[in-house]
Amino acid sequence: MSAPIINLSVQLGRLRLPNPVMVASGTFGYAREMAGLVDLSRLGGILPKTITAEARPGNAPWRTVETSAGMLNSIGLDNDGIEAFIESHLPYLAGLGVPIIVSVAGRNHDEFVALAARLDGLPGVAAVELNISCPNVSHGVDYGTNPLLCERLVAGVRSACSLPIVAKLTPNVTSIAEIAQAAEAGGADCLSLINTVLGMAVDWRRRRPMLGNVMGGLSGPAIKPIALRAVFQASRAVSVPVIGIGGIASLDDCMQFLVAGASAVQIGTANYYRPTVSMEILDGLPAAIVSLGAGSVREIVGTLDARPREVEQPDAVANDNLVVR
Ligand SMILES: Cc1cc2nc3c(=O)[nH]c(=O)nc-3n(C[C@H](O)[C@H](O)[C@H](O)COP(=O)(O)O)c2cc1C
Repeated sequence: MSAPIINLSVQLGRLRLPNPVMVASGTFGYAREMAGLVDLSRLGGILPKTITAEARPGNAPWRTVETSAGMLNSIGLDNDGIEAFIESHLPYLAGLGVPIIVSVAGRNHDEFVALAARLDGLPGVAAVELNISCPNVSHGVDYGTNPLLCERLVAGVRSACSLPIVAKLTPNVTSIAEIAQAAEAGGADCLSLINTVLGMAVDWRRRRPMLGNVMGGLSGPAIKPIALRAVFQASRAVSVPVIGIGGIASLDDCMQFLVAGASAVQIGTANYYRPTVSMEILDGLPAAIVSLGAGSVREIVGTLDARPREVEQPDAVANDNLVVR
């Protein structure tokens, strides 16, 4: 008997991907560095490191610190600027035949719009991701924490650029649903979340913060429950698709995000310590989808039954240790 054919393609607004497994911005370099370890052509999408209008040196060291089940970083958007990206990195990325979603960060509204407009129409650019969620630069999260500014920014980019737009959200807000709805109202094709969780590490002997920038963004397995919760809440608050990011390091993690409401995922920190993780997830994904009785990614997205459980009556609980008064 031949194996069932599973449809792995996903439609994220105007953006179509061959499969839902992407690599997250800032954790995969410009892909060239990973070519010896990963069959890049199999990826559903590649997000290069966020680019800015001008070159930026990033923050003072230390810029990364290992933590329990994760890491803190305060890289600070170190990059050579958009023109260097277009000249030095985009031709290689465009030649991979994989959707390239270019992550951009502006210092203000107009800069975001200009960055997106500059990418419009360039060969190989499939979409633009608006990094409105970087905790490591001043004003990095302004547009990701204020719903009004967020909606205006996405709308401004949408009117200046014909590429599909992904709005990347920060978990460092009171209501992820509110900011998700603002990005949707502005015209985002889809949302990606989460960026890192603001945190810090302390060297108590020196009485100094470990990171040069004092605070940084926590990522890795430690943040997976926060990311799952945010994806669950956001995906139920909007009708545009959501991309899940945060601590994904295995097929099980990926499946949890899809069932919780993500239409696709991005792998971040795991690329550093297990660079083949995206390939392993892709290898196992068809069988995992079949195990749920489905034939496509779309059929399992958001199928979590999150109805509150009934309170079990004491006499129905099979627990010898339970004392029923
Ligand atoms: C060292 C490092 C650099 C990052 N740089 C960027 C970046 O340039 N742009 C961006 O949108 N996110 C950046 N991120 C955030 C990741 O893309 C991702 O949203 C976050 O780490 C959560 O996913 P993870 O737990 O799988 O790493 C960076 C993360 C790390 C660890």
